[in-house]
Amino acid sequence: MNNTEFEIKLNEYRNILETSLTKRTDQPGYKNNRVCDAIKYSLLGGGKRVRGVLTLAFCDALSGTYEQAVDFACAAEMVHCYSLIHDDLPCMDNDDYRRGKLSCHKKFGEATAVLAGDGLLTLAFETMVHSCKVFDDMELALEGIGIMSSSAGVLGMIGGQIADIQNENRNMSFNELLVMQDKKTGALIKASCCLGIVAAGGDVEKFALAGEYGTALGLAFQITDDILDVTSDKETLGKAVNKDKARGKFNFVSEMGVEEAKKTAEGLTGEAIKTLGRLENSEFLIMFTKSLLERQN
Ligand code: IPE
Ligand code: IPE
Ligand code: MG
Ligand code: MG
Ligand code: MG
Repeated sequence: MNNTEFEIKLNEYRNILETSLTKRTDQPGYKNNRVCDAIKYSLLGGGKRVRGVLTLAFCDALSGTYEQAVDFACAAEMVHCYSLIHDDLPCMDNDDYRRGKLSCHKKFGEATAVLAGDGLLTLAFETMVHSCKVFDDMELALEGIGIMSSSAGVLGMIGGQIADIQNENRNMSFNELLVMQDKKTGALIKASCCLGIVAAGGDVEKFALAGEYGTALGLAFQITDDILDVTSDKETLGKAVNKDKARGKFNFVSEMGVEEAKKTAEGLTGEAIKTLGRLENSEFLIMFTKSLLERQN
């Protein structure tokens, strides 16, 4: 796969996600409704769609169809978007910009932003059930919901977010830092990969492979996010920069500096790519993994 073919495929995945996310938020009742306006404002037309792309690409690698994976992929993007809306609230990271525009609470007010996040989280589960009704496969729905709920919950993303907040201006051990990052960002990235395998009907071996890959990529992805916070600018990144130090965040950059953090992210990216060696048709995923290390936003 050359670069042009990679870009075409990536755009294809992103277009599928954009169309489906638009459709899922265009149901009856989603018009002239403030919380739905806030949901659409935050969910549509922005973001790199990393998690949704991972779900589609893993399903594709196992020769599953888009139709099988698209609702799981949309659910991953919905949960992610909810986490960002809440992450930006004044009681959390207090960020005014997201995806190149005002963050949800700046545009719609805090109460609406809280509810928009809640609405997206519940819509994600509704969307997963929808998919399985289409295929008349409720076992698939249960498996997807099980993965998503444990990854988004207290043992996953929520657990990581509370550690991130509680450890502001405090020192953690390196192991605590690893666990926090793995939950905060890794859990949903890992889930997105595994959901692609489940949608395609993959076996336990492939499921384990996707989990290993997602763990390494998730960590590399958050480290890169922490690096970009100090090396990028607001226009390129679409969100404020230099905010982690200002809020006393404990992360790989505060711990080891940008250069060492870059080396760690490179090593983890290498590990993730090595895992893909056990998957057939993984050319797109290999190029995508590399592109996430080199990303500018
Ligand atoms: C930002 O995620 C928050 C983290 C978990 C690091 P992304 O960088 O994937 O954000 P979008 O979806 O592209 O805006
Ligand atoms: C956010 O991490 C992780 C989640 C939303 C779960 P950050 O707080 O570093 O993300 P940004 O930098 O605000 O996007
Ligand atoms: Mg945060
Ligand atoms: Mg933040
Ligand atoms: Mg960040």
